[in-house]
Amino acid sequence: MAVKVKQQQKEAADALKAKGITPCLAVVIVGEDPASKVYVAGKIRDCGEVGIESREYALPEATTQEELLALVEKLNADDTVSGILVQLPLPKHLDEKAIINTIAPNKDVDAFHPANVGRIMIGDYDFLPCTPAGVMELLKEYEIDPTGKECVVVGRSNIVGKPQAMLLLHQNGTVTVCHSRTKDLKEVTLRADILVVAIGRGEFITGDMIKEGAVVIDVGMNRNSAGKLVGDVEFSSAEKKASYITPVPGGVGPMTRAILMKNTVKAAELNAK
Ligand code: GUN
Repeated sequence: MAVKVKQQQKEAADALKAKGITPCLAVVIVGEDPASKVYVAGKIRDCGEVGIESREYALPEATTQEELLALVEKLNADDTVSGILVQLPLPKHLDEKAIINTIAPNKDVDAFHPANVGRIMIGDYDFLPCTPAGVMELLKEYEIDPTGKECVVVGRSNIVGKPQAMLLLHQNGTVTVCHSRTKDLKEVTLRADILVVAIGRGEFITGDMIKEGAVVIDVGMNRNSAGKLVGDVEFSSAEKKASYITPVPGGVGPMTRAILMKNTVKAAELNAK
């Protein structure tokens, strides 16, 4: 599925290059977080496959706020850079919000800048955040239409839960957002026709919390006590209930990265105008 989206973006990138426009993604990573390094390597690899130029800026842990802001401003002003991605989380001494707010909205391929977040709210956007957009792309590919369905999002992060709720709403779902303070979580999740889980706790949602025939989308990425990569859903019990369920790894993750390629090509098109 992600392969198909990447193929489409390769064709779009080739068409742009034929017009003299080379899509280019600048990826900034600060420090030594092992998971972040793996994610960034994957993004750079995807760029290569799709024919997008990539520039990686791997900065030391001790990078100051001023140095990072200066780099973002330099990339904003560089006409050969189409999109800018600053890998999160940043080391604690850096002010994530101030950095995100400095990225030029027309190069913000994560769609984290408040201007882009606001545009998503009113349904008038250039970029969608990669993970929720990837979830919508998976639903589309499997011809699952949220219209009129009970859609439950577990998790309320700015990166996934909140925009995910908005995108499901745009597609006419009846949307409920649950979180760590929800009183009777199971009562809510059992209502879901479409259940999207992004709570960041390994195997938190179990089969008994899922309605028979529900579509279950697992955004989680966690290591369990044995060091194995697991989602936020306990796959073995959930698959007995779900009509569709995404695995971890291999479900949402590859689609998320494919959407990043789509956003970068879009940025190149927009910024060429
Ligand atoms: N860290 C975890 N997910 C993401 C993402 O989608 N974008 C960025 N920039 N950092 C992340």
